[in-house]
Amino acid sequence: MANGERAIPFSTREDNREQQFRRVWVEELDEVFADVARYYDRANHVASLGLWNWFRNRFISTIDVQDGQKVLDVCAGTNAIGIALLEKHPDLQVHAIDRSKAMQAVGQESARKLGMHIDSSIGDVHTLPFPDNHFDVVTLQYASRHLRVMDVCREIRRVLKPGGHFYHCDMLRPANRIVAWSYYVYLRFCLNFTALLFSSTASVHSCKEYFINGLRMFYSADELSELLAQVGFEGVSCQTLLGGMIGYHCAVAPLDTE
Ligand SMILES: C[S@@+](CC[C@H](N)C(=O)[O-])C[C@H]1O[C@@H](n2cnc3c(N)ncnc32)[C@H](O)[C@@H]1O
Repeated sequence: MANGERAIPFSTREDNREQQFRRVWVEELDEVFADVARYYDRANHVASLGLWNWFRNRFISTIDVQDGQKVLDVCAGTNAIGIALLEKHPDLQVHAIDRSKAMQAVGQESARKLGMHIDSSIGDVHTLPFPDNHFDVVTLQYASRHLRVMDVCREIRRVLKPGGHFYHCDMLRPANRIVAWSYYVYLRFCLNFTALLFSSTASVHSCKEYFINGLRMFYSADELSELLAQVGFEGVSCQTLLGGMIGYHCAVAPLDTE
């Protein structure tokens, strides 16, 4: 699949992803995250065999940010990234955006308990409600499979100051078929197990196959690097873990925005 897919332009692959998943994205995901919000962090600890915080800290360690800078966390969910950044740099101005009121309610409560302030917007990230050249750093973790990635990355490039950095972390499609197959088997087991453990609602059960298929149609680490370059980012770099199952990308908004 990888070689065949590589011949297809990213714009077509994005159309295919949207055609396949639009109904879930538009009609179902909000309900899924409304339920998942109450156990999101605990479920991820279980599914990652206790490595969840380690994965997050590894991502945070790739992020170069200075006190006082403006950071936007796209699809911020329960604010894991904003909180981890503020723990390291209490003077940052962090803004979270997510479509799920429930995920943000949990995230805002977690920040408040720690005495932190994170600005919050509720909305669809395909259109970011911020001016051009506004943020020093933008982060996006574990959400791209639910998005038209090219469109959101263009928006991220627009709101970043010239020379600003975009940091992306996600589960990616492993380029090796055997690694990919093992990954899907494990994910299917985890989705079933955590849905039972946390008494998920029917909306979550009905989306379990979507989570696997979303990954199957997603990008490998190299493809995502190529996509970021195509939308105009410079200096794209990537580190991967576990045979490409997780990727940490960094990309720079061009200084010359002509
Ligand atoms: C798996 S969670 C990731 C949350 C967080 N970034 C993290 O690392 O824990 C995915 C998040 O993406 C959000 N999301 C999905 N599609 C979205 C969209 N089109 N606009 C805004 N948020 C969206 C969901 O509401 C959910 O909170």
